[in-house]
Amino acid sequence: MKVVSVVGARPQFVKAAPLSRAIRARHHEVLVHTGQHYDDNMSAVFFRELGIPDPEHHLGVGSGTHGAQTGRMLEAIERVLLIERPDWLLIYGDTNSTVAGALAAAKLHLPVAHVEAGLRSFNRTMPEEVNRVVADHLSTLLLCPGGVARDNLAREGIVRGVEVVGDVMADALAAAVGRAACGSEALARFGLQAGAYALATVHRAENTDDPERLRAILGALGSVGRPVLMPLHPRTRKAIAALGITLPGPVRAIEPLGYLDLVRVASSAAVILTDSGGLQKEAYWLKVPCVTLREETEWVETVESGWNVLAGAVPSRIVAAASAQRPPAWTPLYGDGDAATQILEAMERAC
Ligand code: UD1
Repeated sequence: MKVVSVVGARPQFVKAAPLSRAIRARHHEVLVHTGQHYDDNMSAVFFRELGIPDPEHHLGVGSGTHGAQTGRMLEAIERVLLIERPDWLLIYGDTNSTVAGALAAAKLHLPVAHVEAGLRSFNRTMPEEVNRVVADHLSTLLLCPGGVARDNLAREGIVRGVEVVGDVMADALAAAVGRAACGSEALARFGLQAGAYALATVHRAENTDDPERLRAILGALGSVGRPVLMPLHPRTRKAIAALGITLPGPVRAIEPLGYLDLVRVASSAAVILTDSGGLQKEAYWLKVPCVTLREETEWVETVESGWNVLAGAVPSRIVAAASAQRPPAWTPLYGDGDAATQILEAMERAC
């Protein structure tokens, strides 16, 4: 079986690590990096730390408007697919790299396997929601992390090729927790005491591109009653600089972290405040309460469990949620940490 895998943005590198290893143990994988994320601390560090093989094709697409970025990727991925002629095109998540891969393969009548299929926020103003809907409707094999995702697809009439396989990010996290505990010096580097600080990340367009929301969130982070470590996505750094915002005293902005440092600071945080999809799940698996800085989430099971609270960009809701009691119960969500094996077996069966 020959698989062309397309990655391009930070969360996709994390998801690709366990699956790439599983594929290469038995089959031929050709890895394509679109170049959507390109800074060393947004890309290369993940390849180094997670042992992801060097991409066979680096498309160097870089930044741009959604149409320009996606269009450049579409053209370049098509060229790769015409050369490689794989049995599967494998895509991850909901980025512009995902939708470009799906479209390029579907037009060449190549089967598409979509990891993290069926997620929905039901908010079409999110670029990621548009990417998810289009990618799912072009996919042959829809690999869902849980039952909610499967049901979302059924409501859109997609029932063929749908498999619930668990979440491959759980595989990646389980493999990294021990390494991060021993190998990362991040707590000492940032002068943090385990259990006494909050971790915050903000990068969704709905927050970074709306000055009122961005100001409200950053102000609230200064009032959660603990030091806040905030690794800044380049988009957020640019927005803060453009608006001339001064961060509140307790908020310490740092450069984006590599995966092991991120896992280290996430596991020892008292609370995580974020608009990232991946971090909502990582908080849950690490048993750290999460405050989601959005009005809705695709990861509804984490909210139903009580470990994740939707607080939007409203300071009073953010501050209250950040100091709420830990829920008493915790049950596993999104599989058993063997999603990579389940995905590979589903691809083999359907090949
Ligand atoms: C993308 C994904 C989002 C994912 C996120 C993870 C889409 C629509 N969104 O958002 O689903 O959760 O990645 O981080 O695909 N930039 C740099 N250096 C980099 C990368 C980006 O400076 O290495 C800057 C660029 O100015 C760019 C901006 O950040 O314009 C935004 O990057 P972009 O690739 O458009 O999307 P993300 O916001 O990262």
